[in-house]
Amino acid sequence: MERSLGRAAGCRKRISFHADAGGETHAPLADIPIICDLGAFLGGSTVSLADGLVAAGHQGDLIHSYDFFRATRRVWEEYMGESGRPWPETGDMMSVVFEMLQDYDQLITFYPGDVMKSPVPDGPIEICFVDISKTAEINDHIIANYFTKLIPGKSIVIQQDYFHFSPLWDIVTMEVLKDYFTPIGYTEEFSALFLYTRELDAEAIERAHSRNFTRDQFVSNIKTASRHWPYAKQKADLYLALQAADVTNVTDKAWEIAKKTMNAGLPDLDPAAMYAALDAE
Ligand SMILES: C[S@@+](CC[C@H](N)C(=O)[O-])C[C@H]1O[C@@H](n2cnc3c(N)ncnc32)[C@H](O)[C@@H]1O
Repeated sequence: MERSLGRAAGCRKRISFHADAGGETHAPLADIPIICDLGAFLGGSTVSLADGLVAAGHQGDLIHSYDFFRATRRVWEEYMGESGRPWPETGDMMSVVFEMLQDYDQLITFYPGDVMKSPVPDGPIEICFVDISKTAEINDHIIANYFTKLIPGKSIVIQQDYFHFSPLWDIVTMEVLKDYFTPIGYTEEFSALFLYTRELDAEAIERAHSRNFTRDQFVSNIKTASRHWPYAKQKADLYLALQAADVTNVTDKAWEIAKKTMNAGLPDLDPAAMYAALDAE
């Protein structure tokens, strides 16, 4: 629900406030392809996307950046300690992010608040960077509300947590949706890239919903997903995901899955054991 228009401290962009999200959102969007930066934290992913747009000569309100934009003192010290800046006592990072990204502010709209309550851009989404699916519910929300705005044959989804053994639903849902997404790349740490090939329909969205998954389906989808990824590091990451599915409740929150899996002890990354486990029927 829109409540009023305003301008956040340090922000040169006109923004509106969204009561449900408890944060600020932007005015209606033009019908041009945009980039969604889902899980921006202090703007690390945002600045990379903005750099790319600038290098390619693009202008306009193209990046839509979502996060709580909050940090505890501990997290601030970890990531910003070297800067020597004091932690903003309220924990609100918005003015810090505005300041750090001020050179790009004509390109970016920020949506501070819970992504589950923040408005979804109207326009078609050409690049969807996902580093926010820390719960299965958020993943369901992203699929139903953001993936349905992708452009078949053109849009790219970057699943930033795919090769990490905590948000296991990333692997599983991309596998369930394999008729709609083709793997096209990866980064050495964590990310998998997919081309959106075919328009999602209601039946596919329902099939990918976490309420429909059992642990056995998690396990079998992690195994079949491993066929797309030939390299040893990828196999090792997916083997760890199998381990996580074994020792956790697969729809726990991502950080709980990571913690429980570590507490259970990570397995040796013996290639023979890894391949045997991933290839087993
Ligand atoms: C790993 S960080 C993102 C890092 C960032 N992409 C980068 O490259 O520096 C994940 C982010 O997801 C955000 N997040 C998790 N759940 C969220 C939610 N429900 N609504 C908004 N943001 C959320 C957290 O606040 C956190 O900043």
